Amino acid sequence: MIKEDINEIIKNRRSIFPTQYTTKEVSDAFIKILLENANWAPTHKLTQPWRFKVVQGEAKDRLGVFLSDTYTDITSDDNFSPFKHKKINSNCKSASAIIAICMQRDPKERIPEWEEIAAVAMAVQNMWLTCTANDIGSYWSSPKLIEYVDGFFNFEEGERCLGFFYLGNYDKSAINVSKREPIENKVQWMK
Ligand SMILES: Cc1cc2nc3c(=O)[nH]c(=O)nc-3n(C[C@H](O)[C@H](O)[C@H](O)COP(=O)(O)O)c2cc1C
Repeated sequence: MIKEDINEIIKNRRSIFPTQYTTKEVSDAFIKILLENANWAPTHKLTQPWRFKVVQGEAKDRLGVFLSDTYTDITSDDNFSPFKHKKINSNCKSASAIIAICMQRDPKERIPEWEEIAAVAMAVQNMWLTCTANDIGSYWSSPKLIEYVDGFFNFEEGERCLGFFYLGNYDKSAINVSKREPIENKVQWMK
């Protein structure tokens, strides 16, 4: 890889949403590469706090039903949106796979929790950039509903969900735009 490639991959990484996914499956072989790359994220004291649940096929439909039912349960009648309820379900159906992004707290709490969340986020970035480099659509979703997914997944003690990483093939001709304020506004140089 020439050195310029990494700049392109980082800048071209976009959130690609389930509504944009085609029906073509993302292969297990590719998902295994994603997970392997996630596993090489940096990690203070090597706690390696990232945990993943790969949800595919009928399990994906069951997750959609679980999440939409939970949405109904936790939402007051005044705030209930039939559109949102339907979208929760259809997002699960449209994705080729959904990877639940989870964090296992170090049992001895040797490092602050934020460092473990940061390490998980770095693992997710490894997956996200790998998707970009291979023209696979993906994005990190963090709905309030993740607080309730212990009713769906079997968590170990100290494990919790930080979001869902949706995956799918997509039509690359539809470009998602994103923007950033200039980095100069966010940096102080001290010499
Ligand atoms: C921790 C985290 C949580 C996110 N949660 C959501 C979410 O719940 N819904 C959503 O639409 N996007 C979510 N995103 C994606 C951001 O909206 C997206 O990264 C941002 O709009 C910039 O777009 P880009 O990723 O295409 O550059 C999340 C991103 C991160 C890093």
